[in-house]
Amino acid sequence: MLKDLIWKAGLIPVVVLEDADDAEPLAGALCRGGLPYAEVTFRTDAAAESIRRITRAYPDMIVGAGTVMTTDQVREAVDAGAQFIVTPGLNEPVMNYCIEEGIPVVPGVMDTYAIEKAIAAGLDLLKFFPAEAAGGLKMLKALSGPYPKLRYMATGGINESNLGDYLSDPRIAAVGGSWLCSAEMVREGRFDEIEEKTRRAAE
Ligand code: 3PG
Repeated sequence: MLKDLIWKAGLIPVVVLEDADDAEPLAGALCRGGLPYAEVTFRTDAAAESIRRITRAYPDMIVGAGTVMTTDQVREAVDAGAQFIVTPGLNEPVMNYCIEEGIPVVPGVMDTYAIEKAIAAGLDLLKFFPAEAAGGLKMLKALSGPYPKLRYMATGGINESNLGDYLSDPRIAAVGGSWLCSAEMVREGRFDEIEEKTRRAAE
C-alpha cells in the first residue's frame, strides 16, 4: 500500500534529471547511500525514460513521478514503471484520474480549500508543498485541528537542518527534497557526493 511504502521510506529524494543517461548512476548513488527511493519530476523531457531506466536497473527501488500535471503524464509515468504520482497542487483531473484507475496519488496542498477537496476525494495522505514557505510545522499543527487524520509528505525548503524536526512530527509520513541531488549535482556527475549526502541524511 502506498502509505506503507511512503512511511517506510521516510525520506524521498526529489530528482530532476535532464539526461536519462544520468538516471542509473543517480539511482545507484541513492541506493548505496541507503535511500532506495526517488520522486522523478516531470520538469524535464527525460522524466519518463529516466523512470524506465531506474526501475529496470533497480527493480526494488520505490520510484514515483513528481510534478505531474496532466493525465497523459500519469500514463507515461505509470507505463515507465512509476509506483505513485505526486502533484505540486491539487490537480483535480490528475487526482481523479489516478483514483479511478487505482493509481496511488499524493496531491499537493497548502490550504484548507485544497485539503477539503482531497478529503472529499477520499485521500488522507497529502503532499504539503511548499512546506517551509507555507508555514512549516506550525502550519501543519494548526491544520491538524480540523483535520486530525491527515498525514503528509512534506517538501519545499527541507534540508539537513530541519529534516529532524519534520520527521519527529507525528503528522509527517515522509519528507522529500532536492537537496540530496540537485539538478546541478546530477549535471556535473557528482554521484559520490550525492551518495555521501544521502548516507548522512539516511542516518
Ligand atoms: C518538490 O517538487 O517537491 C520540490 O521542488 C522540492 O522542494 P525543494 O527543491 O525545496 O527540496
